[in-house]
Amino acid sequence: MDQTKVILDRDYQIAQVDPRLFGGFLEHIGRAVYEGVYDPQSKHADQYGFRKDVLNCLKQLCFTAMRYPGGNFASGYHWLDGVGPRATRPTIRELASQSIEPNQFGTDEFMQLSRIMNWTPMITVNLGTGTPEEARNWVEYCNSPIGTKYANLRAENGATEPHDVKLWCLGNEMDGPWQQGHVPADHYAIRSQQAAKLMKDVDPSIETVVCGSAEIGLPTYMEWDRTVLEYVGDYADYISLHRYIGKWNSDTADYLAATNSVDQQIEVADALCRYIQAKTRSKKRIHLAFDEWNVWYRTQNAESVNGHGKFAQHLVEEEYNLEDALVVAGFLNSFIRHADVVKIANLAQIVNVIAPILTRGEQFLLQSIYYPLLIYARRLDGIALQPIVRGPGYESPSYGFVHTIDTSAVLGNGVLHTFLVNRSTDESTTIQIAAAGVQIKSIKSAEQVTGPSAAASNTFDKPNTICNQKLSNIKLDDGKAVIQMPPLSVAAISFHIDDKS
Ligand code: AHR
Repeated sequence: MDQTKVILDRDYQIAQVDPRLFGGFLEHIGRAVYEGVYDPQSKHADQYGFRKDVLNCLKQLCFTAMRYPGGNFASGYHWLDGVGPRATRPTIRELASQSIEPNQFGTDEFMQLSRIMNWTPMITVNLGTGTPEEARNWVEYCNSPIGTKYANLRAENGATEPHDVKLWCLGNEMDGPWQQGHVPADHYAIRSQQAAKLMKDVDPSIETVVCGSAEIGLPTYMEWDRTVLEYVGDYADYISLHRYIGKWNSDTADYLAATNSVDQQIEVADALCRYIQAKTRSKKRIHLAFDEWNVWYRTQNAESVNGHGKFAQHLVEEEYNLEDALVVAGFLNSFIRHADVVKIANLAQIVNVIAPILTRGEQFLLQSIYYPLLIYARRLDGIALQPIVRGPGYESPSYGFVHTIDTSAVLGNGVLHTFLVNRSTDESTTIQIAAAGVQIKSIKSAEQVTGPSAAASNTFDKPNTICNQKLSNIKLDDGKAVIQMPPLSVAAISFHIDDKS
């Protein structure tokens, strides 16, 4: 195949990558919380009941913003049920996934976990069956100094110091007819504006994420967003985007081109934000929170989210393969390329439910999608560069033209991180990286993720079919890097550089 040339110019800067771009999402659904991160009966449990083996794997992924407690769950959740002595917390019939919720893990447990994991907590308030006042009280519980009702309650529950939660989502997917308390856009706009005002009155330092469209296929797509943003105005700091990509035909190359439409989704949402800013003559720029994203299609049906009135069922436990790992890397490339507008993004989810990690009894499995996350995780500190790509591509029936190589790059301090996805299903590809404005001096580290076939996956019996390996097929020649990538692979390479400016 023809060589691909990737030009990375230090002056083609997009923006500093917001660390919150590498966030996650922990929801009360299936076995995400119970049997996932929290399992006091497990032999791996620490003093708080958290599963140390799972947390160790999660730590490697260096997630930043962690969204909690949902998701659809949030729209029926009353946070007071999840605080106080565990023995007195009510068991609830949970309607989003028709399950039993014992409330043994709630706000204070999540905060404890966030501290251990160095996560930035991101809480979704209930604007489905809850009220703006309940949301306001939750902010007081988390952020106010002791001296008033809910802050005192927090202290009674063991935390005299505020939890200091800066990021708050104003409900979840409120445009979705499946959502508890779903209302038309103009109703939600009023509800979320009232909530945001009360919440910011309690703590003016918080930031809010207003619900944008849950799916690009919904008939209200963008019209919902326009109505909401116009009304909520400056009370919103971000608008949310959600996206689950699926493979809806047998064509791997077509599936791998899906990230084209992620670019488009971001650019359309950003265009709307600019339009609203101009129309309302606001000085404030609303940015994007891509606060649910992943591959999800095998278990995307009513039965897979139905707990049949039981506790911690195996819900939406998608089993991932190599091609899914490439799509996950493509999402990350798209976020990095849009670092000027996407400030927050949350992989949905982190354990068991559409997740990179699965538990089975005392065992755990790292799925294929764990590995692109791993090799990107420690390379995001810096400024996103706009890559120029010259090379072969193909026309995808569903998503239009894409280059065979999908790429993004981050310029750090004395280091240039480059991310590459080879979408070719059968050919290895030569990529030349030409840097401008900086001199590539040496290779700091280079890793890749690949496997025997698009459908190859890790299983509990054969857990290491897909993993990260050292990428050795890379040479430096006259300041340029030449990389040979196998078909269906992801690479993350860090170069030591000298700045020529
Ligand atoms: O992540 C699983 C579910 O997908 C979430 O609860 C919901 O927000 C989305 O529809």
